[in-house]
Amino acid sequence: MFTGKIVVITGSTQGIGKRTAELLASRGAKIVINSRNQNKVSEAVEEFENKGFDVLGVSGDVSNYDFCVELRNKTIERFGKIDYLINNAALAAKGALSDTHHTVFEKVYTVNVLGSLFPSKAFIEDLKQTQGGILFISSYAAVVGLPGYIAYSSTKRAIASIAESLKNELVDDGIFIGVNYPGFTENDVNKTILHPSGREDILQKRVGVKLSSLDKTAGSIMRQLENRNFRSYSSIKGRFIQFTYDLFPRLSLFLLRLNRRRIMKMD
Ligand SMILES: NC(=O)c1ccc[n+]([C@@H]2O[C@H](COP(=O)([O-])OP(=O)(O)OC[C@H]3O[C@@H](n4cnc5c(N)ncnc54)[C@H](OP(=O)(O)O)[C@@H]3O)[C@@H](O)[C@H]2O)c1
Repeated sequence: MFTGKIVVITGSTQGIGKRTAELLASRGAKIVINSRNQNKVSEAVEEFENKGFDVLGVSGDVSNYDFCVELRNKTIERFGKIDYLINNAALAAKGALSDTHHTVFEKVYTVNVLGSLFPSKAFIEDLKQTQGGILFISSYAAVVGLPGYIAYSSTKRAIASIAESLKNELVDDGIFIGVNYPGFTENDVNKTILHPSGREDILQKRVGVKLSSLDKTAGSIMRQLENRNFRSYSSIKGRFIQFTYDLFPRLSLFLLRLNRRRIMKMD
């Protein structure tokens, strides 16, 4: 199914994006690796090439539209087509409204929302030609707005809303649109989180929560591309959270209220 397919994965030099790239490449896909850091992109390309995978590295910021056009042009120049775009790049952020500096909202909205819209816009005509697809990486945090994670939670919800609009906008073009909802997943050692002040720190290993392995989360992303499901959750827990919210939204909000102090202390 993936042999010879060209897959662009934004933010794929580490974590979930990188593991998804490895899984897809091992199934015969040709991958475009991206992140803002040129050194990390070169290291990832070298690592993939040493494994015999056919990859192209393009460093740059996906919240910059001109860069997204460059990413599209370099992909076409090298591979001649684009089958799938996985909008994975995002910033993690914590903080309540009163504590969070306004520039943190600007940064998180720019990367998490425009950083998914702009690549989609730059690639759409190529995806129409291949009848490929766009997969948006959201989060369990999008299902219901989390206290203490206002910027992250709301941007991940916006991603799901963008996917819903596109699903119906593009229904006649045969393009697959999907949203994947990962739960807490083991961190890459380089994963950072934005604090309310705007400081960016390495995110320490989360304790007190059950973490999915990178393989499990990336595996769910790969299966979703294969099956072309609109919505997919990385575990049964995510499906349960969504089911409860859809049927009993007031109960979901009440349960969150009971747990708000614990949630607001989490990283
Ligand atoms: N890990 C979890 O527990 C979890 C749970 C639910 C959902 N998710 C979602 O899953 C996705 C991947 O998460 P992760 O934990 O693997 O993230 P991560 O370890 O923080 O990796 C993010 C990647 O995105 C790149 N990136 C960030 N901003 C970018 C930009 N503006 N342009 C291009 N690349 C950019 C980063 O590299 P540079 O910094 O070098 O650019 C990095 O390669 C995200 O969408 C996240 O919201 C994660």
